[in-house]
Amino acid sequence: VTIYAKDYEPPKWWVRHVDLDCDLSADKARIRATLNVEKNGSHDRPLVLAGDGLKPLTVQVDGADAQWTLEGDNLLIELSGEAHEIATTVEFDPSANSQLMGLYASGGLLCTQCESEGFRRITFHPDRPDVLSTYSVTMHADAKAYPILLANGNKVSEGIGEDGRHWARWEDPFPKPSYLFAMVAGDLSANSGAFTTMSGREVELNIWVREKDLPLTHHALQALKDSMKWDEEVYGREYDLDLFNIVAVDDFNFGAMENKGLNIFNSRYVLADSETATDQDFDAIAGVVAHEYFHNWSGNRVTCRDWFQLSLKEGFTVFRDQCFSQDHNSEAVKRIEDVRLLRAIQFPEDSGPLAHPVRPDSYIEISNFYTATVYNKGAELIRMMRTILGEKDFRKGSDLYFERHDGQAVTCEDFVKAMEDASGKDLAQFRLWYSQAGTPTVRAHVDASGSGAVLKLQQDIPDTPGQKDKQPMAIPLKMALLSRQSGAELVEERTVMLGEAEQTVTFEDIAEADPILSINRDFSAPIILESDRDDEELAALARVDGNAFARYEALQELNLRALLPVIRGETVMDASKVIAAFDATLSDERLDDAFKAEAIMIPSEAMIGEKLATIDPDKVHAARQALGHEVGKGLTEKLEQMYGRERPAGDDLSVAAKGQRALSNQLLGLIASGDPAKGARLAKAQYDGARNMTERQGALTVLVSLDGAERGAALEDFYNRFKDQGLVLDKWFGLQARAERDDTMDAVEKLAEHPDFTLKNPNRLRALLVNFASNQWVFHHASGRGYDLLARMVIEADKLNPQVAARLVPPLGRWRRYTDARAKLMRAALQRIEQADGLSKDVFEQVSKSLG
Ligand code: ARG
Ligand code: ZN
Repeated sequence: VTIYAKDYEPPKWWVRHVDLDCDLSADKARIRATLNVEKNGSHDRPLVLAGDGLKPLTVQVDGADAQWTLEGDNLLIELSGEAHEIATTVEFDPSANSQLMGLYASGGLLCTQCESEGFRRITFHPDRPDVLSTYSVTMHADAKAYPILLANGNKVSEGIGEDGRHWARWEDPFPKPSYLFAMVAGDLSANSGAFTTMSGREVELNIWVREKDLPLTHHALQALKDSMKWDEEVYGREYDLDLFNIVAVDDFNFGAMENKGLNIFNSRYVLADSETATDQDFDAIAGVVAHEYFHNWSGNRVTCRDWFQLSLKEGFTVFRDQCFSQDHNSEAVKRIEDVRLLRAIQFPEDSGPLAHPVRPDSYIEISNFYTATVYNKGAELIRMMRTILGEKDFRKGSDLYFERHDGQAVTCEDFVKAMEDASGKDLAQFRLWYSQAGTPTVRAHVDASGSGAVLKLQQDIPDTPGQKDKQPMAIPLKMALLSRQSGAELVEERTVMLGEAEQTVTFEDIAEADPILSINRDFSAPIILESDRDDEELAALARVDGNAFARYEALQELNLRALLPVIRGETVMDASKVIAAFDATLSDERLDDAFKAEAIMIPSEAMIGEKLATIDPDKVHAARQALGHEVGKGLTEKLEQMYGRERPAGDDLSVAAKGQRALSNQLLGLIASGDPAKGARLAKAQYDGARNMTERQGALTVLVSLDGAERGAALEDFYNRFKDQGLVLDKWFGLQARAERDDTMDAVEKLAEHPDFTLKNPNRLRALLVNFASNQWVFHHASGRGYDLLARMVIEADKLNPQVAARLVPPLGRWRRYTDARAKLMRAALQRIEQADGLSKDVFEQVSKSLG
């Protein structure tokens, strides 16, 4: 069944309060729910409570057994009055819950995940985000197995029961939608801290983990404190309860969840020390901790009216966490990383069969819409509004939004309206970004005469499934014109608003006849830029542009210009311009190491493929290898000299130290591309002498793609060292799945049979299969073996966990972009999945849309 945004209707019944009494054990949960319901307006419609796999044991209305019917999974109760107390009891087995939605068991713990529609797997309830209630929750469990009992809000009482059991009662005073409900029972220890809010309230902070993991929680706790401070300083948002709990669990479908006062995290976004986690892992932890914390305002206090508005909370919150990370690291580098992710994942999504607007119009299964478009493109929309309004008015807008809608369930439109009202700016055309899918292409060209310059802009929005002939969008382009001689800004940075299909902007008094265009600085709009700047202009931009992001862009473009003609068979590889530009960048003392590490990254095969109408993965791979080889050879001396610098202390997590390690690992990669034997020697030495995981993983990443004895030895050592640490073992699977080797296909097939591999743990599954499917050259093995393996895994995983299985499908959906033989094999794999027995609606939606 397809659900349409246009069919939204307010709920017929409100639920003002939810009281839960939960009797918990590993294989049996008995949930008694008491709902205070109230009619919304006048009507004679029954109360409909959603369920998923539940059977009611008792149903009472105002204390008396009541008539009810089941319609599919939903419970229907006819009610005569305006307000009633509805009580239901259900029982189920959490240990049998392999979907990891609702209440489930993970490593001896019991925990919950309710967003989007998991609450209905715990009890009967409307389970829609526009029904907000206060909650009280009483949990009963065995005191030995589950000494810690947690739920949302504050603990108000606790006690000892019979037969070694105990209980705790929690109350959450803030009305919330059911998707923010959470509870956890288990044998947990806390790393505790405190935060004093701006108004002087003391908040208790706890990171709950298994006792042995306590030493790995310091970074997460610090990140939480930093986030609380940042949201006060940047958005004026204060935390509202006296307690903030985070729990880490090993089996989790995504990154983390912002349940009110009780965030539940995938343990990979909590646990870290420098031995077992890379600098990137540390940064990702801080980013996710911040993200979930920020949801307390952008998501919880102000929530979504319906799931089509998901980007209201996710786009805004991703934007907030991106800015938090920009403020705590190198600003330009974080921007580069975010744009790389957008291009690697969101752009392909936006140009493929699963393309959808930031605010989708319809869905079969909402879980399939937790996408890069809703999250990351959504964040770009917020960023564009900030660019258009300026920081001050943007803050006025966010203040107004929070004040106006506190305690409400609202829409993306309400957010834009608040921005408009606070700033007085008209965002009518800007709203198209929410409704039109597809990545706009902008063509930019400058004509200069020696007395002035004219910037010509054109935009084009591609057709996407269900959307044709789109209207021009409002596109903010940060730009400047630079002197070819000095690099000075002849036209100072400004934001040009492109609103027409074609538009010109005139600049007077430009004395130079050939100024260089620097445009879409900081990636001010999520577009594909086409410019006719020549290689010399790009090389100049890479050297002198005052905007670090624009320098990076110019380098990327130079790489693509070396690669694409070779892939098209038009010429042989000429790496000289890339070599010269990399050389200049590496020598530039004004640039920091973190930036240099980004700047010398050759675009990934996926990114190169995006630029091709038809992708031949063998050719893309060969060209990229050739470019790497030339660059590595051409810069040997400089690379080795910089690689040989003294390293920062192993546990130094300063921005400078992280940057140096990132650069060092990139240098090692390029050295190995130029001279594999030398690369293997250096990488093995780095591996053996590694003082932290960044050095170790950096070395192993290079080694796994090389031949020779070093490779096997290091992989074996890594396995033996870390085989008991799940999160590190995930890296071992992932690294091998990413190896650029002609035997990686064999290796992945073997790893899928490895005793440590399991489809039950989402992290392990993704470590092998997501990495494998994004390893372009290997996944697109001409035999189709890659497609076969993925299809088999989707079918198997779907029986356990449809959400996770559905997320494996999109790589196959790219078939239209590949050469005929591969396209056919990819379609065949999709068809095989489609024909599997008992397919979930999650996978069905992805597969049927992918086939088109
Ligand atoms: N709200 C969570 C977050 O972004 C993620 C929930 C994902 N839910 C889902 N059904 N995929 O922080
Ligand atoms: Zn989120």
